[in-house]
Amino acid sequence: MRLTLTRPDDWHLHLRDGAMLSIALAHSARQFARAIVMPNLKPPVTTVAEATAYRARILAALPKGLAFEPLMTLYLTDHTPPEEIRKAADSGFVKGVKLYPAGATTHSAAGLTRIENANPVFAAMESAGLPLLMHGEVTDPEVDIFDREKVFLDTCFAPLIQRFPGLKAVMEHATTRETVEFVRHHYRAGVAIAATLTAHHLRYNRNALFQGGLRPHRYCLPVMKRETHRLALLEAATSGHPAFFLGTDSAPHPQNAKEAASCCAGCYSAPHALELYAQIFESAGALDKLEAFASFNGADFYGLPRNREKITLLKKAQNVPDHYPVAGATLVPLCAGETLDWQMQPETGGT
Ligand code: NCD
Ligand code: ZN
Repeated sequence: MRLTLTRPDDWHLHLRDGAMLSIALAHSARQFARAIVMPNLKPPVTTVAEATAYRARILAALPKGLAFEPLMTLYLTDHTPPEEIRKAADSGFVKGVKLYPAGATTHSAAGLTRIENANPVFAAMESAGLPLLMHGEVTDPEVDIFDREKVFLDTCFAPLIQRFPGLKAVMEHATTRETVEFVRHHYRAGVAIAATLTAHHLRYNRNALFQGGLRPHRYCLPVMKRETHRLALLEAATSGHPAFFLGTDSAPHPQNAKEAASCCAGCYSAPHALELYAQIFESAGALDKLEAFASFNGADFYGLPRNREKITLLKKAQNVPDHYPVAGATLVPLCAGETLDWQMQPETGGT
């Protein structure tokens, strides 16, 4: 069995920097033509000047023979000046601004302490047509961790849409039925909102975190939810609805930081992301919907041209390595040691 698709894009990716960047980029660029690159470096990428320098480091780390276009983002802080938005829109390569509520996840300490602090920035983004990409979880410790996304919808996202009805906004790595319903509802009403869906949230529910013991390599934020939520995400991904598209949220951390008393949040899915999505879509009987989800909907939302090149996936078993070496440490991928049903044809990995 073969499946030929327009080359896909990844609309939510952590590439990191230095040695980690080299390996993460090679893994992603094997499959994806473009990716929205997250700005949560240490220190974060908050200005167009920093995004320019980071983009140059990414392009310099790209293996020869692979074509890949990094689409950059700015990290929104309490102090982001609205003027930076105009510069970002004019740059031609900054394609979004990332909102992390302060303390929500890995490297989010510099995030927004109150969403309203950025109102002038949101107004500038609305008029420039620059999308807001949201880590949609509240950080109030009183709110149960499994409810943080839903509470964000009600207390942050809904009021934001009221204040800025023309703002393009993406709920990144959606994990709940409520988010799927929220996106569908507002999309129907003409609001330009969307959600990215990861392979791990489509494949696993929260039981997977505890399968045979605590499984640190499956721990990410937002944390996996109940099976009813996973089914809602799967239905959205395979529905062909234009507001749902591929974003891996692949987020590498060294093995010793994952297998630790306090495990970092992030799943490293980049090496086999597309093959994983293919397996998930096949098990839902929806392989015919994979191309819209992986290759069309995101580009259309961002107002970018769809890719022209094709890639081919073969139904052929392959084993996921246990780990990858990286600068004296190791990196454990999602599904390490497991067998996947699909393989991307290697000759379609380059250009
Ligand atoms: C991400 C990371 O490690 O940078 N971690 C994660 O669990 N997804 C940050 C993020 O996207 O929340
Ligand atoms: Zn992320």
